Amino acid sequence: MTGQVYWEAPSNIALVKYWGKKGLQLPCNPSVSLSLSLSKTQTSLKWVKKERTDEFSFDFFFEGEKKYLFEKKIEALLERIGPSFSFVKDYHLEFRSSNTFPHSVGIASSASSMASFALCLCSMAKALGHLDGPFYEKASFISRLGSGSACRSLYGGVASWGEFSWQEKKLGSDLFATPVSKVHEDFSEILDFILIVDSSPKAVSSTVGHSLMNGHPFLEARITQANKNMESVLDALYKGDWETFQNVVENEALTLHSLMMNSVTPFILMKPQTFLLIEKIQNFRKKTGAKCCFTLDAGPNLHLLCLKSEENLVRKFVQEECKKHLENGRWIEDKVGKDGPKFEEA
Ligand code: DP6
Repeated sequence: MTGQVYWEAPSNIALVKYWGKKGLQLPCNPSVSLSLSLSKTQTSLKWVKKERTDEFSFDFFFEGEKKYLFEKKIEALLERIGPSFSFVKDYHLEFRSSNTFPHSVGIASSASSMASFALCLCSMAKALGHLDGPFYEKASFISRLGSGSACRSLYGGVASWGEFSWQEKKLGSDLFATPVSKVHEDFSEILDFILIVDSSPKAVSSTVGHSLMNGHPFLEARITQANKNMESVLDALYKGDWETFQNVVENEALTLHSLMMNSVTPFILMKPQTFLLIEKIQNFRKKTGAKCCFTLDAGPNLHLLCLKSEENLVRKFVQEECKKHLENGRWIEDKVGKDGPKFEEA
């Protein structure tokens, strides 16, 4: 017995950052992100019945080639998905994946990859009559076990992960992400200019990065701050309040890097050009009043976010003032994608 499914899942960029984990891939604080429209992972999963063993058996091909390093991540995901997916051991799996974006440019490939794997595994479970619970919730739960931020890549637009309070209600779950639907129409189109400062592979893995929060002197303060920022940014998205949005987003980006610099083993992931570009963005905004702001992943590359109304002004700024400071003068233009993951009959 065989079967095959195909899914595309978007990458996402966090506004409030997930940084620090507890238990089995649970976040220390809530986070919220924007799903991208063009930066995606496309994955097909084929399964072939085999004799049951205690081991998972799979092959992974990235852009047509075997990728051994990533196999470890898939292995960890399969080990963690637990008894409800033990039927997987009755099959040999073949994952074939590719990304629509280059590596190490500040676009999280682990998020879109793990989300696409989880969607494929849930489709497989559904096809074989093993799926319990709502499909996307389950896929988000499973992708979280592969990579925390991946659980937010299950939805288009804005998605949150972790428990938080908003408008005096307790919302969200640490186990899976949920879509944020209360977004003002002024925020309906957000563009993301990804300014590539340095595309060398990451100096610190996210696993190591998160572990730096264990025993971090500012852990408690960080959790309080993230919860407060979560409320503020959700309010800003709801009311269409650009200024609050911008202040929170930049505060979160700089906090993420400050936490790394303050850890017992410190990491400085920003480059001189990162600082230079931050200053340029702030000056440009002061001069023109453009509704744009920056955020950062755990790396040196900047995401310059802006409203659609500012597109031409911001592109001109990138071309005239930022381009010369970018690696090979390169940036990538993306935008928030409303549609979320896509399924195709394979
Ligand atoms: C800085 O999701 O990559 O991008 O759970 O270990 O896979 P793992 O970590 P990962 O961490 C992402 C951290 C971040 C912030 C964010 O996306 O919220």
